[in-house]
Amino acid sequence: MELAKLPAWQALQEHAREMADVHMRELFAADPRRYQTFSLQHEQLLLDYSRNRVDARTRTLLLELAAQRGVLEAAARMVAGEHLNTSEDRAALHTLLRAPRDNGVTLEGVAVWPQVQAALGRMEAFCQRLRERRWPGAGGEPVTDVVNLGIGGSHLGPEMVTRALGELATGQPRVHFVSNVDGADLAGKLAQLEPSTTLFIVSSKSFSTMETMTNADSALGWLCDAGIEKDTALRRHFVAVSANREAVAAFGIHEDNRFPLWDWVGGRYSLWSCVGLPIALAVGMSAFRELLAGAAEMDRHFLEAPPGQNMPLMMGLLGVWYVNFFGCQSHAVLPYDRRLALLPTHLQQADMESNGKRVDRHGRRMAVATGPLVWGGEGTSGQHAFFQWLHQGAQWVPVDFVGCATPEHSLTHHHRVLLANLLAQPRALMRGRTVDEARVLLRERGVDADTARRLLPHLVFPGNRPSNTLLLRRLDPRTLGALLALYEHKIFVQGWIWNVNSFDQWGVELGKEMAVEALAALNDERAAQGDQSEHELLDWCRRNGFD
Ligand code: F6P
Repeated sequence: MELAKLPAWQALQEHAREMADVHMRELFAADPRRYQTFSLQHEQLLLDYSRNRVDARTRTLLLELAAQRGVLEAAARMVAGEHLNTSEDRAALHTLLRAPRDNGVTLEGVAVWPQVQAALGRMEAFCQRLRERRWPGAGGEPVTDVVNLGIGGSHLGPEMVTRALGELATGQPRVHFVSNVDGADLAGKLAQLEPSTTLFIVSSKSFSTMETMTNADSALGWLCDAGIEKDTALRRHFVAVSANREAVAAFGIHEDNRFPLWDWVGGRYSLWSCVGLPIALAVGMSAFRELLAGAAEMDRHFLEAPPGQNMPLMMGLLGVWYVNFFGCQSHAVLPYDRRLALLPTHLQQADMESNGKRVDRHGRRMAVATGPLVWGGEGTSGQHAFFQWLHQGAQWVPVDFVGCATPEHSLTHHHRVLLANLLAQPRALMRGRTVDEARVLLRERGVDADTARRLLPHLVFPGNRPSNTLLLRRLDPRTLGALLALYEHKIFVQGWIWNVNSFDQWGVELGKEMAVEALAALNDERAAQGDQSEHELLDWCRRNGFD
């Protein structure tokens, strides 16, 4: 049945009208146990969703919507290997990459889990050699630096996790990331490195991504320019992570140096596969396995927890509530932990490439809004940048605050200040400041009547701005794995409710095709095919330094 015609959808529309003028202050005042009613804990993760514009009926109706859309049944079908990625006729089996045991899934007659285990075994052996300085570069000296060349899912997740778990890194090898085709990225990195002790991971599922292949060609050129023979460079200084065996071989990387990937792993869901090699190199394979275990535990929770206790389900439904019943077009993710600074960027791809769709899985134009713009930045720095907009902007958006109870450093006073801010912001967004409260404040500050009248409107905060608070006991590999899987499943929940295919990404194709055309024009291979604007811009570049 069409989404907007589902009974739960229609009931939610009606209910949203009732809730439109309800202030969360009233909800807290009416229920002294609101936190207990609207919070969930799973292992080392706590979700407080009490500061949302919801009451018990909202939750009931949202859960009914999930039931009417068959969300949890669909999740079971996903992990069983059904081809939910319909436009590409593929399974979406990233959960199997972290599954502790074989669930018997076969694709085209081949058992999947044993392949995953074999790949993990190869990663482990490789990591041991690198980490124990047993992988010699061209001159016989052990490799000390590894550069991951990859973009999108072949970069964002791995760098985010490597940074987040940075305290576990031994520094052998040092791990670097180059994703941008802007030469400043690669050149800047190479300037710090020694060719004879540097190894490149070319991480690309397709092994055809323009940015990654350009960087890989230049990296090979850098090694050869340093006097390393091409064959040696490819054997001792390059490994690949890719599903495209032929393209890897055509580049010159030996099959022994290729770590596998499969078409049933979407790029943005691939950090759990060999794409996670830079993570494992930096922090060790046992930490990487812990990361997988934490994610697997969240998978189990998602599949087995009752709907009302199900963390990814609740987070997904809350997002639907705001997108479809309050018209919110964006969602902010604000980590109050420096180590998680790249989380918003990773989630941007995970969420927006998955649910940024305007047609449903059958190709029909959507009648309702779908995935929001995901954005964010680290607290407390963001408080001095964009929080003004969050508190007093003319629009409001839901927010996720993410933080850790236990710091991994000895500056405990800093952590107290950080936590104080993390606790204060959701409350400030929820409560706001009324006109009366602003008046009292001005009086207490001894402001004269004229100035008070002038300042009053500026000191009023509407409040009623919703947020989730996600707390981790500490940022260890296991808890991080659970956190990332939580978001993956939240995205799945929303995609399934909206009936979009969360596992394809056709929207990135057109720009790629036009870049190929523009490159041909820049190379003078053919006249620019673009519009008049593109011709003029190209000419301007030629007249202003582009060679
Ligand atoms: O940006 C589009 C995309 O296809 C992503 O889905 C993917 O993560 C990224 O490009 C990189 O692709 P590949 O791993 O094939 O180089």
